[in-house]
Amino acid sequence: MKTIFSGIQPSGTLTLGNYLGALKHFVDLQDDYNCYFCVVDEHAITVPQDRLQLRQNIRSLSALYIASGIDVSKSTLFIQSEVPEHTQLGWMLQCVSYIGELERMTQFKDKSQGGKEGVTSGLLTYPPLMAADILLYKTDIVPVGEDQKQHLELTRNLAQRFNNKYNDIFTVPEVSIPKVGARIMSLQEPTKKMSKSDANQKAFISMLDDEKKILKKIKSAVTDSEGIVKYDKENKPGVANLLTIYSICSGISVEDLEKKYQDTGYGVFKEDVAQAVIATLKPIQERYDQLIESEELDDMLDQGAEHASFQANKMLNKAKKAMGLGRVKKNK
Ligand code: TYM
Repeated sequence: MKTIFSGIQPSGTLTLGNYLGALKHFVDLQDDYNCYFCVVDEHAITVPQDRLQLRQNIRSLSALYIASGIDVSKSTLFIQSEVPEHTQLGWMLQCVSYIGELERMTQFKDKSQGGKEGVTSGLLTYPPLMAADILLYKTDIVPVGEDQKQHLELTRNLAQRFNNKYNDIFTVPEVSIPKVGARIMSLQEPTKKMSKSDANQKAFISMLDDEKKILKKIKSAVTDSEGIVKYDKENKPGVANLLTIYSICSGISVEDLEKKYQDTGYGVFKEDVAQAVIATLKPIQERYDQLIESEELDDMLDQGAEHASFQANKMLNKAKKAMGLGRVKKNK
């Protein structure tokens, strides 16, 4: 059975973009793959975080994984900082990464636009940590949204470089990006991706937004003045984004939706998009409410960390040996 690894940062409540671009696919994959899903809290601290808020976000994200359908009898769900092998291998992979290639990462360039003085060095060296996450588990496939493609390319390069330089121990992973929904856009600026760190609350739907909020945000989503429901990403990015969201949430194809709304205008269309989103998120929110304060959730995470650590330790030891770290004990 092939192995899958993916992670999500607990840097705020997950958005509909995270769900449709990543989480929803994870749920579909667990029957056919050996899956590891991670709450990557050590990635979240590359930017300033409030301590209590971070704690809450870690628990909330863990509960959202389960509420969305991750089943711990099939998949391993764990918190990154509870498996220290990640940062250990992360450091070793930093030592095979070049500053030049890390500085070329789009995400680093975007976040350091205001000058490098105020940016943590963790933001620069985050991709080797992400590579460590993946390489520790002999991962074959990494399902992610479009924005992580470049980091995956770097992971492949680092694995190959390590294998050539030291010993052929790492599986070089493939990236898997969904055909539809790989880049859900902001509701306010539909040429920008929907992001949980957007300052404008109206730009994203949080997975925990109530019905009223979802309806309000979709009704105020930026479209155009044409009044025609048609998928045209270039000229009508707002409508195209709503069609994508509606199609994934309802299971109806974009073409069928275009036909259904050809004479209705945006009012009715938006109302129905909102209802489809509500119908998708409501059962998840109900399960979330049962889980968030439960011991059951802690038990699941303990079990996940134990299993992940057992696997990760084996690979870490191989990597240490390949690099010549530590010592070989003398037989007495
Ligand atoms: P993060 O936390 O930003 O996002 C988690 C997942 O959601 C996807 N995503 C989206 N998909 C569609 N539309 C959007 N608007 C949208 N926004 C986010 C992301 O592509 C991602 O799949 N570096 C990663 C976390 C990570 C990781 C890993 C992923 C750390 N280690 C190892 C895979 C494997 C990140 O910041 O994702």
